[in-house]
Amino acid sequence: MSEFFEIVGGIALRGTVRAGGAKNAGLPLLISTLLTGEECTLTNVPNLTDTSLVLHLLEQFGAEVHYDGDEVKVRTPKLLATEASYSLVKALRASFWILGPLLARGRAARVALPGGDLIGARPVDLHLEGLTKMGAEISLKHGVVYATALKGLRPAEIDLRFPSVGATHQLIMAASLTPGRTIIKGCAREPEIVALAEFLNGMGADIQGAGGSVVEINGRSELGGATTHLIGDRIEAGTYLLAGVITGGEVTVEGIDPSSFGVFLEILTEMGVQLSTTSSTVTVRCTAPLKAVNVKTGPFPELATDLQPLLMAALTVAEGTSTIEETIYEGRFGHASELARMGAQIKIVDRTVVIEGVSKLTGAPVDGLDIRAAAALVLAALAAEGCSEIHELHHLRRGYEHVERKMGALGAKLLARISDPEDFIFAGC
Ligand code: UD1
Repeated sequence: MSEFFEIVGGIALRGTVRAGGAKNAGLPLLISTLLTGEECTLTNVPNLTDTSLVLHLLEQFGAEVHYDGDEVKVRTPKLLATEASYSLVKALRASFWILGPLLARGRAARVALPGGDLIGARPVDLHLEGLTKMGAEISLKHGVVYATALKGLRPAEIDLRFPSVGATHQLIMAASLTPGRTIIKGCAREPEIVALAEFLNGMGADIQGAGGSVVEINGRSELGGATTHLIGDRIEAGTYLLAGVITGGEVTVEGIDPSSFGVFLEILTEMGVQLSTTSSTVTVRCTAPLKAVNVKTGPFPELATDLQPLLMAALTVAEGTSTIEETIYEGRFGHASELARMGAQIKIVDRTVVIEGVSKLTGAPVDGLDIRAAAALVLAALAAEGCSEIHELHHLRRGYEHVERKMGALGAKLLARISDPEDFIFAGC
């Protein structure tokens, strides 16, 4: 038995939705609560599979977790374990970021290597090099990272060759509980890094420069509890904006800082989308056919790779030939063949897709094989003539809360259904 979306396309979406809390800010902030024995409180936490997975991970290390609506309280009086298993790291790649906090607080950790996935190889060499510079002794055995820092981590100067989001989170967390001055150059500049630094500063760390390339951390020997309200999810918000764009409608997303999109909003303007913003809302309006663009993904503030599949969906119905170069993940075009099943004209040349815009897409049964691929197919289905089915929905559920309600509020005809209903025996509540 599995769940799928049935979508009847061709309706221009209109209305207002509120962005949920950012999944990719929630995960590192929750992991960072392991750095203290005191209670931390996060609000605006999205109720997603990935959130549940990270809370489960924290509990394995001794965290007491209380979840009430969108508020999560975590307290880890004592670290009770040192090992994160392969099954957890495989289910949630961000689990690997636990290595730094465990080393900083507990001086030893064993965490399975996350390995690659459908969108690319995704190595973690920068994480390991950075922690080694901070004095960790690291060895790899049977796919597991064994790390110790018996006398504690030491402050260091670290130069990241690539602005990895995960390595930046990992090293900032480790350095916050390492007395002395650590300087990290070549940091990722994403809004989620700023959110983590602000949270850690609330816990008593002294972090300067987050959001820029050089971050200076004056680490402490102890950190305390902190409270924060998560920032809005820019990728989820971008999905709803593009739902308005691809269907030729008008959509406002509330609860999102427009500056968190980097160049994405400029790209929408280049596509002929009319935009208006306030400090916490973005509105898109489409009154004419979309125009083709040539763009590439990159580290913030360049186009987020997580928006690439979604933008590709919109460009399948733009006038003319568009190109998107994917510079972050070598294998992130799996959605192209599924979009083609709906009538999109897409060619892949190395790390670039060439999209010949078509006047209309047609509904089809398709598989969404990662979070954003699934969301891209939802967008295409909303614009397509007739009915589509989006299968493998568990991927979408990792990153999108209340999709049916939010899309429904915009006028979409989207229904979650169960496949093989004859095998489904209702056992009561
Ligand atoms: C985070 C996001 C993910 C997003 C990605 C890039 C979360 C939970 N996930 O993932 O949604 O797609 O940022 O914006 O926040 N790399 C290395 N060595 C390393 C680390 C990274 O070579 O040690 C390279 C790899 O080619 C990798 C690329 O950097 O494919 C991007 O990785 P990174 O920025 O670390 O992404 P994540 O933190 O895994």
